[in-house]
Amino acid sequence: MLVLGLQGSPRKNGNTCYLLSAFMDKVQNPGVQTRVISVRDKNITPCLGCGFCEKKGRCIITDDDMATEIYTLLRRADVIVVATPVFFFNMPSRLKALVDRCQTFWSLKYRLKVKDPLADTRRGFLLSAGGSMGKNLFDGLVLTTRYFFDAVGARYSGSLVYRGIDKKGEMQNHPDVAADVTKAATGLLTPLAARKRVLFACRENACRSQMAAAFAAHLAGDRIDAQCAGSKPAGMTNPDMVRVMAEKGIDMQFRKPRALESVIAGMSPQLLVTMGCGEECPFVPGAEVMDWDLPDPAGQSLDFMRAARDRIQERVRRLVEDEF
Ligand SMILES: Cc1cc2nc3c(=O)[nH]c(=O)nc-3n(C[C@H](O)[C@H](O)[C@H](O)COP(=O)(O)O)c2cc1C
Repeated sequence: MLVLGLQGSPRKNGNTCYLLSAFMDKVQNPGVQTRVISVRDKNITPCLGCGFCEKKGRCIITDDDMATEIYTLLRRADVIVVATPVFFFNMPSRLKALVDRCQTFWSLKYRLKVKDPLADTRRGFLLSAGGSMGKNLFDGLVLTTRYFFDAVGARYSGSLVYRGIDKKGEMQNHPDVAADVTKAATGLLTPLAARKRVLFACRENACRSQMAAAFAAHLAGDRIDAQCAGSKPAGMTNPDMVRVMAEKGIDMQFRKPRALESVIAGMSPQLLVTMGCGEECPFVPGAEVMDWDLPDPAGQSLDFMRAARDRIQERVRRLVEDEF
């Protein structure tokens, strides 16, 4: 499980930076990976409003950190935590640029009608602080953040917001913050951490294991933490796989093949499902193992890929019915 923090403040070691690191400390657990994106350090080109993503389902800007890193992390995350100060009743401009670039996800969801496999399980949470005591201080920020979570496929699961917090250091002196953060992090993570951790593995992590993990997340994301990896990960996922999954209404863009060793170390799988990789199948101490022995569709026709997709969907459906 990946908990992704978006640190939106341009101020180093400021109030929301403290809030996010306290939150991340509380979610540390076996099977949980954390990652913080310090948005001020990222190269994010603002949205051009060109409409390209509404037709193509991808952004026309391909040479910044959204394209190379952030879209993929947003798709991989099980929990997205936005930590940001209030700037003029909203978020700082760099974070807003990141949010606006998620128009690509909005387009996939609402124009092209393909669904992210994690959309029903992913959670979104807001952490914020503002200097004044105004009643409506967080209204604009909450609206923007809710809409962002909707676009990226995350259920808005609440917020911790603090008024009257202005100077550096004021957040950590707040009398309730430690208890608030513990309660929020525990409440958010407990149901997700109870899921069974299943790793789907094949050689390149470009087709079969990607489809299997996506179907598992799609069908039973509330019961299965489905990850995938490969013994010799390819540089990118297979475009034909992305195409045939889109035919099923499932969006597989922005996914990247990952190496078995690092995924195993990060998640400690309880069940390992291999796709017929013979001698290359990894050994995972303590994990139950299943081998599905499915032919590799890479380099075959589109119809072969479709047949592989349908077989995998059926196997995952049976696995979910029988085991979960
Ligand atoms: C450009 C800018 C705009 C701000 N706008 C607001 C605002 O609209 N309302 C408010 O209460 N505080 C506002 N603040 C104060 C910050 O929200 C406050 O100092 C916060 O604690 C900063 O958090 P940080 O240390 O994580 O950056 C603003 C601060 C800056 C620098």
